[in-house]
Amino acid sequence: MARHIVARTSDIPPGGNKVFGVEGRDIVVFHVNGEFFALLNRCPHEGAPLEKAACVARLTSPEPGVYQRSRVGELLRCPWHGWEFDMRNGQSWFDPKRVKVRSYPVAVESGEELQKGPYVAETFPVHVEDSYVIIET
Ligand code: FES
Repeated sequence: MARHIVARTSDIPPGGNKVFGVEGRDIVVFHVNGEFFALLNRCPHEGAPLEKAACVARLTSPEPGVYQRSRVGELLRCPWHGWEFDMRNGQSWFDPKRVKVRSYPVAVESGEELQKGPYVAETFPVHVEDSYVIIET
């Protein structure tokens, strides 16, 4: 699995999101409750951009007239037809076995922890002999 360094944590404000083009796909990264979640930016129903989805809470009802909110901001409600998805794994609530948004693992690492990138400029040894500069190729 290839790693792609896409942003600083400060580039995505709490409660916000940002879309990144990665290997030809648009991936949206959400910053919710101090965590980051990455999903394909496309609803599996008719393709709405999930960057425009509402980030809502899970609502449950143990009995009539009583409801409880949990996981505030971690559920996505599609902007076009209201299908809802779990931001942690992309699964839909109405048909979790068959309908889901592709999700991607996200890691946050400090600059010191990151490895060197794969792109290295070609370098050549240089020697100075009697005031002449010589480049080896
Ligand atoms: S496009 Fe998302 S619910 Fe229809």
